[in-house]
Amino acid sequence: MKNYLYIVIGSVCGLLLASCRPDQKQTESTPQPDTMVTTATKPFGKTADGKEVTEYTLTNKNGVTMSVINYGGIITRLSTPDKNGVFEDIVLGYDSLSGYLKETPYFGAIVGRYGNRIANGKFTLDGQTYSLAQNNNGQHLHGGLKGFDKVFWTIEQAGPGKLRLTYVSNDMEEGYPGNLNVEVTYELTDDNELKIAYTATTDKKTIVNLTQHSYFNLSGNAKRDILDHALTLYADKFVPVTNVLIPTGKLNDVAGTPFDFRKETAIGLRTNDKDQQLEFAGGYDHCWVLSSSDSIKHAATVSEPVSGRVVDVYTTEPGIQFYAGNFLDGSITGKQGVVYKHRYGLCLETEHFPDSPNQKSFPSTELKPGEVYKTYTTYKFSVR
Ligand code: BGC
Repeated sequence: MKNYLYIVIGSVCGLLLASCRPDQKQTESTPQPDTMVTTATKPFGKTADGKEVTEYTLTNKNGVTMSVINYGGIITRLSTPDKNGVFEDIVLGYDSLSGYLKETPYFGAIVGRYGNRIANGKFTLDGQTYSLAQNNNGQHLHGGLKGFDKVFWTIEQAGPGKLRLTYVSNDMEEGYPGNLNVEVTYELTDDNELKIAYTATTDKKTIVNLTQHSYFNLSGNAKRDILDHALTLYADKFVPVTNVLIPTGKLNDVAGTPFDFRKETAIGLRTNDKDQQLEFAGGYDHCWVLSSSDSIKHAATVSEPVSGRVVDVYTTEPGIQFYAGNFLDGSITGKQGVVYKHRYGLCLETEHFPDSPNQKSFPSTELKPGEVYKTYTTYKFSVR
């Protein structure tokens, strides 16, 4: 009860502070005094048509902070301590809304209705073929021209440290059938976890594959590329792709290939090996196959040697796309004027496999009326 009161008081103070001092900086290094997660809000700019964007910041009892905006459900900032207790931002993004409104490689966003690629932007349900935007090399990527990363989400506080984001995607929006009610909750716990729950229901048979597209750089404030990050992927197989990054339909063993991350390995060690799969994608940009059980399982561990920061990923999903920021090329200037060069961030996107609607042997991404799509992913932050 006492703690609950603190949360309420903390939230109200946060809201008042934010409205009085919109330029207020979030504390980076002072841990909060008690066991609570507080929430503050502040304006984050306006879209061209005058819609206000708001940033919500959660702070846990250890001083870990996470900020989220109602545009794209984007995680704009995630500040965690290194092994010496120094707090720094570990995700890529922009200082202001204008960056997110321009062409952005999905920094921090919720991705849907279908995360990852669908071959030729086409799929068939009950004999009817649907056509989606071919927005990536003739293929459909990440929900199309205006996917869930570019829409307004309604955000409300759903409990201590928990934000509920909701969005209604209309029938045939971006070419997908069915009115889809989507709910994503972000919860920052006092155990330094970001817990994400995705829920969706439809009124017509459709396909759904939701994910989160944060780019991590555990050095803090993106000091250098991610090639010295050490990665473990708890997977024996991965999904090989064609030269346009569409699955061939097979699942390949990782054993004896640069895709074997069953033992912790620096990302840069084999990324330039002579390997057709690496050549097709310009490096790592593939889906690894996790156990198909619906229970939550350990999918990945990534750590950075200098800061000692570690992220563990757990998920109910059957796959995890590890994308090593191969398409970052120095053309984006991000937060605090940092230029995001080649491989300055990595994504660990928990999801179903790419192109599942066209691959009968892959776990299904279909959702029927009356069913509830429900998946969970946790990112746990620690140091070693
Ligand atoms: C994909 C990459 C793509 C990137 C967009 C990732 O999820 O796997 O191929 O280029 O998103 O920024």
